[in-house]
Amino acid sequence: MTLVDAAREVRENAYAPYSHFKVGAAVRARSGRIYAGCNVENVAYPEGTCAEAGAIAAMVAAGETEIIEVAVIADSAAPVPPCGGCRQKLAEFGRHDTPVTLATTEGRSLETTVGELLPGRFEAAHMERP
Ligand code: THU
Repeated sequence: MTLVDAAREVRENAYAPYSHFKVGAAVRARSGRIYAGCNVENVAYPEGTCAEAGAIAAMVAAGETEIIEVAVIADSAAPVPPCGGCRQKLAEFGRHDTPVTLATTEGRSLETTVGELLPGRFEAAHMERP
């Protein structure tokens, strides 16, 4: 199964009764294993979580902390880019050159990288004083 296929499959389980916008995400970790997540909304809107956050949480819960590839899919006209918060979350576990595929359910896709999605990311080094 490709990473996009995994994202497409988990997207079916998205809980999006408020936006009606289902998103699926999948990350491949260093071991080669795939972890998938979908958006989970809440009636208290800010409590909803993105698909990327779910996939990352599944990966970390399984004991892995290195992402080597990402895929995100939604039923949109153009490939949907991850929100700002998810870009920072992906940057925590991916490298600058980690590939990201943004796909639509109709078959369009866009290839980018974690670094392209979040130039100038906040890093631990920014908290250090010489
Ligand atoms: N959403 C994601 O899950 N990932 C993205 O990359 C973009 C947005 C979700 C959050 C919310 O449940 C719905 O899409 C509409 O914003």
